[in-house]
Order: sequence, then C-alpha cells, then structure tokens
Amino acid sequence: MAKRIREHWGSRIGVVLATAGNAVGLGNLLRFPSKVAMYGGGAFIIPYLISMLLLGLPLMWVEWMAGRYGGLRGHGSTVGIMGTILKGKLWARLLGVFGVLAPLLIVFYYIYIESWTLGYAVHSLMGNLPKPVQTTDTAEALKPFADFLKTYTKPSFEAYIFFWITFLLNWIVLHRGIRRGIELVAKICMPILFVMGIVLIIVIFTSKGTHPEWSAMKGLEYIWKPDFSAILRGDVWVEAAGQIFFTLSLGMGAIAVYASYVKEKEDIVVTGVATASTNEFVEVIIGSSIAIPAAFLFFGPQSISELASAGTFRLGFMSMPAVLNSLPFGFFWSFVWFMLLFVAAFTSSIALTQPMVAFLEDELNLSHKNAVATSMILILIGAHLSIFVNGYIDELDFWAGSFMLIFFGIVEIIFFVWIFGPNNFIEELNKGADVKVPRWVAYITGTITLVFLTGIMIMWFSQNFQKALMQEGTGIWLARITIFTLLGILFFITWITTGRNDA
Ligand code: TRP
Repeated sequence: MAKRIREHWGSRIGVVLATAGNAVGLGNLLRFPSKVAMYGGGAFIIPYLISMLLLGLPLMWVEWMAGRYGGLRGHGSTVGIMGTILKGKLWARLLGVFGVLAPLLIVFYYIYIESWTLGYAVHSLMGNLPKPVQTTDTAEALKPFADFLKTYTKPSFEAYIFFWITFLLNWIVLHRGIRRGIELVAKICMPILFVMGIVLIIVIFTSKGTHPEWSAMKGLEYIWKPDFSAILRGDVWVEAAGQIFFTLSLGMGAIAVYASYVKEKEDIVVTGVATASTNEFVEVIIGSSIAIPAAFLFFGPQSISELASAGTFRLGFMSMPAVLNSLPFGFFWSFVWFMLLFVAAFTSSIALTQPMVAFLEDELNLSHKNAVATSMILILIGAHLSIFVNGYIDELDFWAGSFMLIFFGIVEIIFFVWIFGPNNFIEELNKGADVKVPRWVAYITGTITLVFLTGIMIMWFSQNFQKALMQEGTGIWLARITIFTLLGILFFITWITTGRNDA
C-alpha cells in the first residue's frame, strides 16, 4: 500500500504553541493550586521541582524523540511508534495501546468539565452567577456557588447545551486537521491565554482583602516558602510526580503524537524545552498567582487548605467566582477567569483526542474525516456516562489520570531508552539540534528517572490500591467496563493491523 501522506505543522512557532496548548490546561490553573494547598504549600514545591527535572524534562525528550521517529515512518500513535522501533512486533504495538487508551479515557470527562467553564463564562457575562455574600465564614460565602455548581454536576438542560457546544467545537477543530485546525487554534488561543492570565494577576494583586492583614502577597508566600520536612512524606512525592505527568501531558503518548507531525529538520531538543518551560511558566507563575492568592485575599490563611481539600473544583468554580464577583466590574473578571480556563482546556481536549485520531488514521487507514468522526462518537458516549452516571468520572480519573500515566511512563523509558538503545535515543534526539543533549542524559533517564518512577509506582500502589478495589457502585463498574471494553477493541484493531503499514 502506498504510504499515506502525513500532515506537518506549518511553522516553528506553531509547533511550540500547539504543544504548549496541549500541555497547558486545567491542570495548570486548577489542579496545581489545589494540590499545593492540600499538600501544605511550600511542602509541595521541593518534590515538585525535583520531579520536574528528573521526570518531566527527560520524559519530554523521550516523547519528542519517539514522536518524530515514528512520524517520519508514518506512525503517530504509540501503537505505531513502538511497533516501528521493533519492526512491527505485535507485543510492542499492544503495549503502545495504553498511549491511545489513557488520553481517550481522560477526554471522556475532561471535555465535560471544559464545557462547565464555557457555561460559567457566559453566565458571568450575563450577570447570572450568584451574588457573593459579605461574610468571613467561608462555608456561608461559598454556599450559593456550591448550589450553582450543582446545576452542572447534575446537569441542568442548559449545562447540557454547553456540553454540546463544546463537543462540536472540538469536532470542528479536529476535523480541520493539524495545520488548519489545531495549529490555528493554538496561535489564536495561546496569546489570549497569556494576556488573560496576566490581567487577572494584576486585578488580584491590586485588590484589597476583606481583612487588613490578608493580602495576595501572603498567598504567594504560602506557596513559595519551602518546607523541607516534606521530603520525608511519600504522599507528597506521589502527588508532585503525578502533577508533573499530568500537567506536561506526559506518560500517555499525547506529546509524541504532536511530535509526529514535525518536519524531519525540526530541532526537537529546543522544542521540548520550550514546551516544558511554557507550561511551567503558566503553572508556577500564572497558576500559582491567581487562585490561591485570591482565596487568601478574601478568606484568609485558615481557609486555604479547607477550600482546596474538597477537590479541585472548589477553588476554581466556587472561591474564584465568589472573590471576583465581589470586585468592581466583577462580572467581567469572572468572565475572564472562566474564558482563561476554557481556552486552556480547549487546546488540551483536542490534544487528548488526537492520539485516537492518529491511531485510526495511521493503523486502520481510515480517512482523516472518518477517524475524527469515529473518535468523536466514542467521546460522545463516554462523555454521556461522565455526565449522567455518579462516580464514573472519579473512577476514570483514578485509573487513566494517575495509574496509567505512571505505568506508561515506565514503559516509555524502558522501551525508548533501553530497548531502542541509549545511544540511538540520544542520536535520534540530537538530529537537527543546535545544542546537543549529552549522552549521559540517556543514562540518567534510563537509571535515575526509571528508579524514581518505579518508587513512585510502588508508593502509589501502597497508598491507593486497596482503597481502589474496595469501591462499589454502578459508576465504578461502568467505568471499569468502559476501560476493559476499549482496551479489548484497541487490542483487536492493533492485532489485525499489525504488519499492514510497516515497510
Ligand atoms: N496537561 C493537561 C492539563 O494540564 C492535561 C493532560 C494530561 C493532557 N494529559 C494530556 C492534555 C494529554 C492533552 C493531552 O490540564
């Protein structure tokens, strides 16, 4: 069969913005601040920064290397990429299935939460959000916002409409393809995202708190005062490493897919660093300067961990609108906040879908249009389960959003460093690079990063496994059935297409 012509990104800046859009998401603006708050502020930062250097950067390079290597040989999903490295061996391709399954499962709920942000943005602008109550009692102040959120978690008709709008927007962009879809959206959205983020920081840092001693600055101090005792806490390490994976979109082949559309000459060493640093800028500068400082300003230091402990959504969908809506022109700042979330989430949800699209196109030889349609219909089903079945989202997030990432991260290192060969890895990575990555990086990745990740995996199991298996309920079982059914389907497609597109 003739080699399919794969699309390429249009420009260098386009590649960087698209991959930054992939990585920058709700994880940066919501998940990060709430993890920081839950794990004691400064306690979180040291494991976080160490994980960034030991896990984030090496794996980022691994995925860029793998993606470009596979892309040049006609494969963008990890199924095809891992197959190419071992000349089409079935077991390698089957292992790669996790790099298609994990992002697909995540997008099942991610797209729904994304649609909340759009709904909230529109409601902010129309002045429909609850009016904040002037009180220092956090629970009382947040009550109207908690009630409002319920119309989204148990969707009202109009929340459901926003889901459809979001869903169709994703479809349209993916349908338009790499250059005219994903890249174009990133070029429009990413600059807007930066501006909105910075505007909100200015608004928050120039506002007065409800108490003379509370200030946004104190919120920053809380996050950035390192607490060295955290080094001894296993749970903090697991969470910090997990956050690095999640925020950089690593451990699920999502970066590799984007990398598979670069041109042969692209300097992926620099692009990899640019992706990681843009993401970290949005996370540690913008992400940490909005939600927590704002909460500090209005609710004071005692409330922070309480605010965050009820999950990621409390900060973003309750405390933020409560704070912003009590400022002058509050409806507008609240609109900016939710648009910021929406734009960040949108460029991530298209990235979460692309592995499946690439898999269907490159392995099953579906046309682009049909590959997108098939993926979107699967997402429609999965998203409906997320919307209407209680407990479904949490179970999916538990397996796909944390376990599979760590698991597949380990697989990627063993595969792309050891099986491919440390020298091949570095040589392939350095092709076209101005500044070369030294060889020892491969050995560090293959040893220290691998040991570190394995340790995280073991701690993860000891903390979560029993608890996870004890769970009961329809949502839990439906989520597990979904995971196994999709795994079966993807294995089957992988099996019947093995040998088909390899030279
Ligand atoms: N990085 C995204 C965020 O911070 C979430 C995410 C995890 C993701 N894995 C991904 C996005 C894969 C796109 C592709 O919100």
